[in-house]
Amino acid sequence: MVKRSTTIRAFDVKTATPEELRAVYALVWGPRGLRTEEWPDDPPRSYDTWLNSLRTVPPFVALRIWVAWQGADAVGRSTLEIYDTPDNRHLANADVGVLASHRRQGIGKRLLVPIAQGAETAGRTLLVGGTDSAIPAGEAFMERLGSRRGMVSRTNQLSLVDLDSALMRAWCEQGPRKEFDLDWWDGAYPEAEVDAICVLRAVMNTAPRDDLEVEDQVWTPEMIHQQQESLLQREVDRRTLFVRHRASGELAGYTEVFYDRALPHVLQQGDTGVLPKYRGHGLGKWLKGTMVERVPREWPDVRFIRTGNANSNAPMLKINHAMGFRPYKDWTIWQVEVSKVKEYLRRHE
Ligand SMILES: CC(C)(COP(=O)(O)OP(=O)(O)OC[C@H]1O[C@@H](n2cnc3c(N)ncnc32)[C@H](O)[C@@H]1OP(=O)(O)O)[C@@H](O)C(=O)NCCC(=O)NCCS
Repeated sequence: MVKRSTTIRAFDVKTATPEELRAVYALVWGPRGLRTEEWPDDPPRSYDTWLNSLRTVPPFVALRIWVAWQGADAVGRSTLEIYDTPDNRHLANADVGVLASHRRQGIGKRLLVPIAQGAETAGRTLLVGGTDSAIPAGEAFMERLGSRRGMVSRTNQLSLVDLDSALMRAWCEQGPRKEFDLDWWDGAYPEAEVDAICVLRAVMNTAPRDDLEVEDQVWTPEMIHQQQESLLQREVDRRTLFVRHRASGELAGYTEVFYDRALPHVLQQGDTGVLPKYRGHGLGKWLKGTMVERVPREWPDVRFIRTGNANSNAPMLKINHAMGFRPYKDWTIWQVEVSKVKEYLRRHE
């Protein structure tokens, strides 16, 4: 068989031809696609959902994509995400994927070239990317580049049939109602609360980051608005449950979930955080117990709740484990200096 030559080209969803769009969709969600390989239990996303996800990236995220082509077939792609935020201006998120049938031919390495160039041009010095335990090739590749493990984490999943409803009721009943109020924000946050929510969200900076060389994340009202707009366009519903300290009026903690109509049997659990000074009063359990009780009423199709946790996050894992969450798959977040990747690429030219 004659080996087909590979060309790497920048991919822009706005200018790509319909044939190119279909080929890149097949690369991602086709029967042997990159995401299909990562999430074999889930149905593939539809073409329209995938296209919409590319068109609705919030403006504070600059997403660039390069595709490896063999004739009309897309066989690999790399992505670079740069956040225009006040924090972490040394950092860029990178991802490289090559179809299983085309690995170990140097395509992944070639897809790294524009990533390193793009990050350097944007003044970013550290690349961060994740690998899935289901695909050991990713770890081997990362180690080859000289990347370091920044954080070992896991997707944990709760099958709702395993939920201990009596325990959830007990958590709700034990909630400290005398001092705190519990309430919901469905969809967009109330405008008058957005500044306070930016402060509240900073609590997530107290979650373990292990060895990741990242700074605290700062949320601004503008980012919140852009994120909400993106969720709306993607038809993802957000439910936020929060507790307020009655005496001071301060927001003390929150938990949020995301329901993606494109994946109706899975609910994504997002942030859960309680301000350090309000910890130890059962607020975390009250929040999670109340949230999970609402799920079957609102979304009868949901069978699983998924969440991502650092393996070192003992307090969150304790709550999740008691609810019935079990390990689903492992993720490692890696970090490597752009200069190191460039040096690796020079050595292998
Ligand atoms: C990681 C991935 C993109 C590598 O693509 P690839 O085209 O096979 O990579 P290359 O052929 O360019 O290999 C680059 C180097 O990594 C090494 N490597 C790649 N896969 C390897 C494996 N399974 N075992 C050992 N070494 C491996 C190669 O030998 C090569 O080493 P060299 O520096 O001596 O030349 C591919 O395996 C993949 O798509 N994995 C799933 C997605 C993922 O985990 N991406 C990484 C996160 S960003």
